[in-house]
Amino acid sequence: MKNFKRYTVTAALPYVNGPKHIGHLAGAYLPADIYVRYLRLQKRDVVFICGSDELGTAITMQALKEKISPRELVDKYHALSQDCFAKLGISFDIYHRTTEKLHFDTAQEFFLDFYNKGLFEEKLTEQYYDEETNSFLADRYIQGTCPNCGSDKAFGDQCESCGKSLDPTDLIHPISVVTGNIPVKKETKNWYFKLGDYEPWLTEWLVEGKKGQWKTNTYGQAKSWIDGGLQARSMTRDGDWGVPVPIENADGKILYVWFDAPIGYISATKQWAMDKGVSWEPYWKDANTKLVHFVGKDNIVFHCIIFPIMLKAAGGYILPEDVPANEFLNLEGQKMSTSRRWSLDMFEYLEALPDKVDELRYALISNLPENKDADFSWKDFQLKVNSELVAIVGNMVNRVFVLTHKFYEGKVPNAAECSQLKEFILERKSKVSAAIENYSFREALVEAILLARHGNKILTEKEPWKVVKANPHEAGVVLYDCFQIIANFAILIEPFLPNTARVLWEKLNMQCEFSWDRIGDLQMVPVGHIIQDSFYLFSKMEDDVIQKQIDYLYAKTHKEEIMENQATEKQEEKLISFDDFSKMDIRIGTILTAERVEGTDKLMKLSVDLGSEVRTIVSGIAHVFNVDDVVNKRVQVLANLAPRKIKGIESKGMILFADNVEGLAFVSPLGDVPNGAGVK
Ligand code: MF3
Ligand code: ZN
Repeated sequence: MKNFKRYTVTAALPYVNGPKHIGHLAGAYLPADIYVRYLRLQKRDVVFICGSDELGTAITMQALKEKISPRELVDKYHALSQDCFAKLGISFDIYHRTTEKLHFDTAQEFFLDFYNKGLFEEKLTEQYYDEETNSFLADRYIQGTCPNCGSDKAFGDQCESCGKSLDPTDLIHPISVVTGNIPVKKETKNWYFKLGDYEPWLTEWLVEGKKGQWKTNTYGQAKSWIDGGLQARSMTRDGDWGVPVPIENADGKILYVWFDAPIGYISATKQWAMDKGVSWEPYWKDANTKLVHFVGKDNIVFHCIIFPIMLKAAGGYILPEDVPANEFLNLEGQKMSTSRRWSLDMFEYLEALPDKVDELRYALISNLPENKDADFSWKDFQLKVNSELVAIVGNMVNRVFVLTHKFYEGKVPNAAECSQLKEFILERKSKVSAAIENYSFREALVEAILLARHGNKILTEKEPWKVVKANPHEAGVVLYDCFQIIANFAILIEPFLPNTARVLWEKLNMQCEFSWDRIGDLQMVPVGHIIQDSFYLFSKMEDDVIQKQIDYLYAKTHKEEIMENQATEKQEEKLISFDDFSKMDIRIGTILTAERVEGTDKLMKLSVDLGSEVRTIVSGIAHVFNVDDVVNKRVQVLANLAPRKIKGIESKGMILFADNVEGLAFVSPLGDVPNGAGVK
């Protein structure tokens, strides 16, 4: 394996269209954090990049829903995400934003470079356009009936009922999500990146080059995309919430969000380097730098194919060595969904259990969806905390501290060289290393915990609390070994449970440097060293605390379901029975006379011939029609509407009109129908 001098590690820039849940955490941020912490412990040169993806329709749609501006939306959720990640110990070196000027400049430079190199083709296509807002509608902004399954809530890019991917023009009865209008088709120009030109190169670099190296899920998805043939892809959109297309005659055009977002990694690195007073370029351009993208499986194509093509096309950039993509994390056996409110959001967890960060990290890491979807359940969380963190790790540490205070005045007792223990620790070290470097974080955690288990085993087998009376030296040796285990364990566990590592170090009163190199040192905690008071590293998760979380989750989705049901009930209330309909007596008539009702803008007093009688009807049409427009018009009248007095005139019945754009239109019978004829 190549030895790299430098590491650039990225975690997918999360959209700031809402709170992020623990599935996101397990998908990319937590694995990336373990990897980076491990590299830092080895004193490697590493930069850990992330930030908010703040542009594109995911953002503008949500802003529309929340009835706030996109700017307000991104400010709100950027702050929330950043705060949660910090509290969960995700140790980004920078958390940037794609709305920063530096990012706009960087993304525009890329576009311009590709434009000048002739990598785009301009294409005119017909897109849906909303004439009320005077704007083109992104795929997600068009809803209609799915041609595949008939659901009436399909989006222009995909039907979420049946999963079929769609083109907006496939939809039956399309409507604009923004205004509810029927959109019209209009021609628009966009710039398409000719991805197909890179097929031979991708075959060599990825299909052949990464075979057997990348995780099978990542490799498989990327390969099947390439096998399917790469179409030119539009890298621009019509809109205003995005990076303007930096060429002439491109007013109202912005960069496609998946064009600018990955460039966000580069702009973030530039900002970080500037703040630090170093050059950003080696982190993206030196062949001795290892570039690794941590993402969820829905991001694979962009990180394995499109972004590498962009880096290749720009020239001089390194390519990702690896894209360790995770599958999805379910919650209590069901797929997480923000819209159904079936999720455990990071901020919710932190509000409920603010001092249980490492507990969450532990439960998630031991259950990461590395190769297939995994499940988080509160009961399992409780079990892991109680039977592993409390019963194994916490218990071992507590026993060692208690015994040392009881029998040795809180000082680390005498030593004897133990080669077996050293071997055991070194074996853990190399296994944890190998697993982390292979992105097998679950396995790495199991290996690290084995060291704590080993400490417990020694205590249980050697029973120093019994031995101490007859042979204080022998009992002391056992405790000495256990201190070395605790100190080595603290370092080994740091990438996974950073708070635990810090607490152990403090309680041990350790001053020496915290580094991977030290693992295997059996004199880290010297004889006679004074430790702090005994303590409990973890506490038990009680049933009522866990039940409260479960109840909260169900209450949250239930509330959402109730609201949804109410919405459908309202729709159902609109339906009437045939009986209701037959109660209506609708008749054909002819307007004989018309006059405006004085003192009003809208009302007209009409006399209508209904065959057997002439009725007086007051109608709100004077703002649309003149008197002359209505006299002699044939109409439909709801004849048995209860009479009411309007401006002192008794109105008996109602004339039916069609609502149209100009205002109102007459609904007249076709052909020769006598006055008084019933409509059914
Ligand atoms: N915002 C995207 C998502 O949440 C990820 C963007 S990753 C980047 O799915 F590379 F484009 F930045
Ligand atoms: Zn469908």
